Amino acid sequence: MGNQRSPLLLALVSVFFYSSAVLAAPVLTYNVVSLGAKADGKTDSTLAFLAAWTKACASVTATTIYVPAGRFYLRQVAFNGPCRCKAIFIRIDGTLVAPSDYRVLGNAGNWLGFSHVNGVTLSGGILDGQGTGLWTCKASGKSCPSGATTLQFSNSKNIVVSGLTSLNSQMFHIVVNGCKNVKMRGIKVTANGNSPNTDGIHVQLSSGVTILNSKIQTGDDCISIGPGTTNLWIENIACGPGHGISIGSLGKDLKEAGVQNVTVKTATFTNTQNGVRIKSWGRASNGFARNILFQNAFMVNVQNPVVIDQNYCPGNKGCPGQVSGVKISDVTYQDIHGSSATEVAVKFDCSAGNPCNRIKLENVKLTYQNQAAESSCSHAVGTSSGLVQPTSCF
Ligand SMILES: *[C@@H]1O[C@H](CO)[C@@H](O)[C@H](O)[C@H]1NC(C)=O
Repeated sequence: MGNQRSPLLLALVSVFFYSSAVLAAPVLTYNVVSLGAKADGKTDSTLAFLAAWTKACASVTATTIYVPAGRFYLRQVAFNGPCRCKAIFIRIDGTLVAPSDYRVLGNAGNWLGFSHVNGVTLSGGILDGQGTGLWTCKASGKSCPSGATTLQFSNSKNIVVSGLTSLNSQMFHIVVNGCKNVKMRGIKVTANGNSPNTDGIHVQLSSGVTILNSKIQTGDDCISIGPGTTNLWIENIACGPGHGISIGSLGKDLKEAGVQNVTVKTATFTNTQNGVRIKSWGRASNGFARNILFQNAFMVNVQNPVVIDQNYCPGNKGCPGQVSGVKISDVTYQDIHGSSATEVAVKFDCSAGNPCNRIKLENVKLTYQNQAAESSCSHAVGTSSGLVQPTSCF
């Protein structure tokens, strides 16, 4: 009883907060339907969304763009800044639908793109990329456009994305490029395990990105981490089908920004091609990956649970006889458990010219068909502590 708050006090407190909220500038709301969007899944609503964005972007106060339930067909939409206002909330209750004819977006690069924005919060919603037509085209061997990323943030900062679902993207689902301070949580990505180039979330040239509590099922990397990524935090991820969480491919270019301070904590990989991977081209580059922590990962029937591959050279083109210039150091694998679908569960295939350095294995237990798995090392230097199975090959 002593802990119960007095109803009178509660009432006074509510009135106080209510009146201060009313006294503060109200958040303007633009409903896309009032601006001409149609929730029928086929009327082109591109202009209505752009009109809402233009108004929100020009506003001096915080603004909400509201997308009600229903299906909204959109061609490419560029949400460009800089904006006058420093807080735009986009609240989506409905589904945004891309053109099913992949020729409409063609090589557009992205379908929904935010660039040079500061303080955008995107919450809820389903983005339906309608990528199956393009995947079929690519599988047929015909010449097809490369396709569009579903959602891209570029050269932006202070971004929040929460509770968003991306379905069947043509290419990558979500790309964060050249951004600072991006928080993503409760993201759901779904595409067929055979869909080509459908990375779930790709981060590059960005700092201070966090990806939490997300479920990613797709045909390529669940999360891919490109050059110039620093201070990235990934936690509580379910990945599979897909190609795992991958740093790289790095070292494609001779001059390239490095990857530094990446944490991947608590992730489950189910029937994926890789678990935690670092990958670089086998050619000259000044790139690097350092201060990387993979902590608490659980593997279920994963082909390459722990892998560093520095000899990537698809079709053996552009890197004959070369070694990777990418320097990999201070990589820790801590509490990695579960089952490998192949005998070699831990594979460090590093650069002959730049051996991997200070690799640490702590409490690793991976099995293959309920027996001990194997590890393989080439040009890798490191230490192991705690129980490590398969026994390390340093
Ligand atoms: C590493 O990144 C995390 C965020 O993921 C940040 O909190 C921390 O300060 C960074 N550490 C260094 C040494 O920059």
